[in-house]
Order: sequence, then C-alpha cells, then structure tokens
Amino acid sequence: MLFKLNMKVIDFKVRSNETLNSRNHLLKITPSNNEILPEMHPGQFVQILVGNSSDVFLRRPISINFADKQKNEIWLLIQRIGEGTKKICSLKENETVNLIYPLGNSFTIPENKGKYLLIGGGVGTAPLLFLGKKMQEKQITPDFLIGARSDSDILQRRDFERYGNLYCTTEDGSSGEKGFVTNHSILQSNNYDFIYTCGPKPMMAAVAKYAAEKGIGCEVSLENLMACGFGACLCCTEKTTRGNVNTCTEGPVFNINELKWLD
Ligand code: FES
Repeated sequence: MLFKLNMKVIDFKVRSNETLNSRNHLLKITPSNNEILPEMHPGQFVQILVGNSSDVFLRRPISINFADKQKNEIWLLIQRIGEGTKKICSLKENETVNLIYPLGNSFTIPENKGKYLLIGGGVGTAPLLFLGKKMQEKQITPDFLIGARSDSDILQRRDFERYGNLYCTTEDGSSGEKGFVTNHSILQSNNYDFIYTCGPKPMMAAVAKYAAEKGIGCEVSLENLMACGFGACLCCTEKTTRGNVNTCTEGPVFNINELKWLD
C-alpha cells in the first residue's frame, strides 16, 4: 500500500537500548517533544541521523520493528555492521536521535481470515513483528518462519510468539529445523494463502520462487541501498514491470509479480 509522503523530521529520546546478541540492539524511542506518534504501517521505515560524527554523514534507513501506541514508542532493531550503526547501537537512555519518518509503503494487511506465512532472515525479521501485530488486530494468527545462522541469532522470539506461531531454521541446527527457510517442513505441510518476506536477497528470491511455483501471492520488502530515503538521490532503484522505480518511495514492499526477479 502506497502512502502520500507525509514525513516528519523530529528529535526522539532514547527510552532504552537493549543488547539482543553480539551484533543486534533494540532501541525504544519516543518523540522528545512528547507529540503523539502518527499512524504507522508495517514495512515503513525511518531515516536515523548518526549524531556527533565527523566521519558518518548519511542517515541510516531502519525498518519500523514495532509501534507501541500506548507508550508512544517506536522500536528499531539495529544490526551493528558499520561505523554508523555502531554509533546508533551505542546510544544511551535519554540521549537524542533525529529521525525522518514514517517513510515508504507497507505490506498489505489481509482483510480475511486465512493462512498467512511471514518469513524473515537476519535483521529482516524486524518489520514482520509489526505486521504480525497488525494481523492480530484483525483476529488473524499468522505463522512466522525465521531463518538464522544459529540459535543466538533468532531475535525477539517471545515477541513473535505473542502474535503467531513461531517456526525456525538454523544453519547449524541449534534451533528448529536445520537448513534454510525454504527447506522447512511447514512449506510442505501447509497451504498458505499469502506469504510476506524480508531478509537477505538470496533468501527472499528463494521464497519468491517457491511462492511463484506454488501460485501463492507474495510480498517482499527490499533492502536496497538507500541514502536520502524520500526520492531525491535515485540510488535505490529497482527494475519492475513499471520500469525503474525508487525503492524508498514506491517500496520498500513490492508484490513479486511487479519485480523482474523471476524472469
Ligand atoms: Fe534516495 Fe531512494 S534513497 S531516492
């Protein structure tokens, strides 16, 4: 679903910064001026400014992991992979970060009961938690299938279990079934109505191929390189049936029928 660009640029205060494992942190933030958060949708993202940094200038695009209306809080799952994300992961309680948000489109929330599978890998699991929450609001209980290298890389297990049935694969077999998500037995034993996926591109491509072969509708959330996040720099283009489009404004969520992956 595409939204009119309605972005804000405001400071947020860090409520908490939880270390989830050796590489991933969960930041919970709230507007510094106490303004009420706007309606946000799963799949949308923020552009976060790396403060106090002479060597890191660009904002970092981060998926909205969860929006807690009651606490007026946004959750961001951050993977420490470079200087910028390292600085974001070192933020302390009550420190300030500047965000441009909410950006991008969203996954399509189903209106009807059915069997829905949400497949995530790595930090790409982030928007699927928010999607599961939105599905629960529609009395839908999805299946989550999370792929990781090892048991310690499966993030927010309890949060996912709150909104659906959680299945896992790990490459070393330390949790769930050994192998990749597309090898998991639930793909053989269940007929899904729709699949949503976010994670490394090879994983999403394998999921898209599986869905196309089975005739199952599928949306993917792309993690193309982004700089501005709102259509100005043209660095995030993706080939689609509509031509080359900006992932940041036309996506990040696309139906696989729109992409050129399966040609
Ligand atoms: Fe600049 Fe998409 S990130 S146009």
